[in-house]
Amino acid sequence: MSTELLEAVRALLQEKNALLLAHNYQRPEVQDAADLTGDSLGLSMEAARTEAEVIVFAGVHFMAETAAILSPQKTVILPERDAGCPMADMITPEKLRAKKAELPGVPVVTYVNSSAAVKAESDVCCTSANVVSVVKSRPEDHLLLTPDQNLAQYAQRHTNKKLDFWPGYCPTHQKLTPADVLRAREAHPGALVMAHPECRPEVLDLADAIKSTSGMLTFAAESDAEEFIVGTETGLLHPLQKNNPTKKFYPASKRMVCPNMKLTTLASVKIALELMTPVIEVPEDVAAKARLAVERMLAVPRD
Ligand code: 13P
Ligand code: SF4
Repeated sequence: MSTELLEAVRALLQEKNALLLAHNYQRPEVQDAADLTGDSLGLSMEAARTEAEVIVFAGVHFMAETAAILSPQKTVILPERDAGCPMADMITPEKLRAKKAELPGVPVVTYVNSSAAVKAESDVCCTSANVVSVVKSRPEDHLLLTPDQNLAQYAQRHTNKKLDFWPGYCPTHQKLTPADVLRAREAHPGALVMAHPECRPEVLDLADAIKSTSGMLTFAAESDAEEFIVGTETGLLHPLQKNNPTKKFYPASKRMVCPNMKLTTLASVKIALELMTPVIEVPEDVAAKARLAVERMLAVPRD
């Protein structure tokens, strides 16, 4: 990483009273320059807690929107305007309204990997870390879980409720096949397999631990094992290795790269800070409804 560029970014952050948040999948240079790194919801909650006036969110669009929903008085900047999430784009508020009309009385649980407008049409949100607790917390026996079919099937296995699925998926996690996992296990027989619940059910069947990105960081740090096969976006290898220098981490597949997460560079963070754009705004009527869905999730006690 260029020290000059890093110093310029840090100076701009100070000048603008800004905080740089980086998701666990971001490029190492961006993670290393950030004030805080973490998973999508954790970072948005940190954004709400900080006294900084400006949040620079190195991540994808829905994450910056969640920060804007939770911190309406702050300026939220997404350095790369085109950094979206294909899974979040697999559902729209119009399509969700049509589905709700087919399922009257069935509450909608929506993964945080979704637009603010879709959250606003939902009863409660969930993350990959709390989906089972959120589903169990509902009094109803029949729910619709959007937009990730794999996360919904994972939740289905852990509750007796009837869950309808939305046919969305993460193209990066969908790439991981059981054959990839078996190949990695053969190459590293002593390693534990960690997989993100966005992976296919056949992949999750082969995992030793099913965890969100932050869950994997905690699991690897606390485990007695020395080697791990990582079934999620390869960006997570950086904090795993940094936090556990004596342990070994192998990607379950080198093809698990999210192109949207890699759009942001330290140079684009610098330009965004200089120009104070692109700013992500959520209209207050949409934000108010979306906030309710996020707050209902936050009120659910963890199992
Ligand atoms: P986490 O919330 O587990 O960090 O995951 C975000 C994401 O985009 C997974 O693909
Ligand atoms: Fe979306 Fe998948 Fe990229 Fe996460 S890894 S931002 S779910 S496309």
